[in-house]
Amino acid sequence: MKLSVSGRAAAAAVVTATTLLATGSLAGAAPATPAVAAAPDIPVANVKAHLSQLQSIATANGGNRAHGRTGYRASLDYVKAKLDAAGFATTIQQFTSSSRTGYNLIADWPGGDTTRVVMAGSHLDSVTAGPGINDNGSGSAAVLETALAVSRAGLQPTRHLRFAWWGAEELGMVGSRYYVNNLSSTNRSRISAYLNFDMIGSPNPGYFVYDDDPTIEQTFKTYFSGLGVPTEIETEGDGRSDHAPFKNVGIPVGGLFSGADYVKTSAQAAKWGGTAGQPFDRCYHSSCDTIANLNDTALDRNADALAYAVWTLSS
Ligand code: TRP
Ligand code: CA
Ligand code: ZN
Repeated sequence: MKLSVSGRAAAAAVVTATTLLATGSLAGAAPATPAVAAAPDIPVANVKAHLSQLQSIATANGGNRAHGRTGYRASLDYVKAKLDAAGFATTIQQFTSSSRTGYNLIADWPGGDTTRVVMAGSHLDSVTAGPGINDNGSGSAAVLETALAVSRAGLQPTRHLRFAWWGAEELGMVGSRYYVNNLSSTNRSRISAYLNFDMIGSPNPGYFVYDDDPTIEQTFKTYFSGLGVPTEIETEGDGRSDHAPFKNVGIPVGGLFSGADYVKTSAQAAKWGGTAGQPFDRCYHSSCDTIANLNDTALDRNADALAYAVWTLSS
């Protein structure tokens, strides 16, 4: 399935807006392409503030935010309170896995065409070994801050926007699969895109774009080429995160990833900086995946790319 949104058309609209600003001329005929609200620059300090809260939650709950543990539910309550205060309609979806209760959090932004839904999601659970700040506080905090930016902008997108935080990804994408399996066929067919963010602040980062739906992939690539940052196709293991259940039922998917336990090559270090011969994230699934285990530049760029894709694909 392909999105009808054209990445090129969206890019053209952005160029039009830029031209208008540059010339200072807003009078006269309407631009040939419809105006697309410019995506915001997501403040990385806000993303990091959410991550500090997730770190504190882990510290106060036995050092993790894992499925079925108190730190998971506290993480979910933190995210939900922010969204409720910002005007989202939130739903907690409960499931059971390994005899423990798990939860997904779904947040709908009121308005837009509900027959064409653009979703962005991330898993909120950690492994039991540690606080899971890069995996996957990073995606969770960036999706949260993008949702809050939608609220601050009073965005009125053409398509309906939905954000999701999944439980029990670390047990095999349990929460996201539960969500997809429990959608009616009508509601399933209404999802025009699912964007996934799992590990986007790796300390020795790479810039990987999922090689799935061409329109979504191009949207991310357009953003990074605007920054002058080269990207690679995500090859570390297709289907290793919550986009897999969506992809398996034919929903167009895409996403970003800054690397896990694979080792950065010298060619990759030459174009991205960082350390060749070392993993992208040496603390993957371990106790040192703390607030110190982040590259702020990668977190910032990926959060901004996330917002750009949400704005562009929902316009
Ligand atoms: N949470 C994923 C996992 O533990 C992290 C991951 C590894 C990943 N490789 C990936 C996420 C590739 C996206 C794409 O397996
Ligand atoms: Ca930013
Ligand atoms: Zn993960």
